[in-house]
Amino acid sequence: MAVKSTNITEVAHRIDIQARWQANGHRGAVLWFTGLSGAGKTTLALELENRLFNKGFNVYVLDGDNVRHGLSSDLGFSHSDRTENIRRIGEVAALFADAGAIVITAFISPYQSDREQARQAYPEGFREIFIDADLEVCERRDPKGLYEKARKGEIPDFTGISAPYEAPSNPDLTVDSGDLTVDESLQILMDYVEETFVLK
Ligand code: ADX
Repeated sequence: MAVKSTNITEVAHRIDIQARWQANGHRGAVLWFTGLSGAGKTTLALELENRLFNKGFNVYVLDGDNVRHGLSSDLGFSHSDRTENIRRIGEVAALFADAGAIVITAFISPYQSDREQARQAYPEGFREIFIDADLEVCERRDPKGLYEKARKGEIPDFTGISAPYEAPSNPDLTVDSGDLTVDESLQILMDYVEETFVLK
């Protein structure tokens, strides 16, 4: 996005990023979960956060339903509002990661181009993680009863029903949450984080 302000100058931090990583024992990262509502993004993000925290990681979850109560409370579910939601989250996640944290984001983020833009905010540590349960499975689970409402026409622009979901074409990791148990999915995620971001 173009910068609107003029007369602004970026400053450099006095704490080297390597020093932050050394203090944590791992690099900063953005683990960008994407998938349909009901695919398991929030469940997996919160339990991954829990397990990583208990192992001493500096980790934090940004979750769609929570962020939409605060930072994105002015946004709905039109294409342009979702794009703005994902742009904000991409920038906030990059700031957390730059501070050394492992950030787990749990947003549907249905548009490939928005996810690519989010990657650009922190290219070195961004990983697109597809939480992959197909529509049939998500609709059967329907944990919040939203699919039922959407089918009745009570929720406009509902992802998978009346709004699109563009599955990642080349994700860094796919977790087959439609077939795997929560525990099996978490094991894959824990192994991935430990292999990819822990300092050797
Ligand atoms: S995103 O498309 O902008 O990434 P986000 O992840 O923040 O969406 O919010 C999705 C959550 O909002 C869903 O888990 C669901 O609980 C709720 N929701 C309410 N209306 C909709 C809708 N029209 N489409 C999808 N999710 C919706």
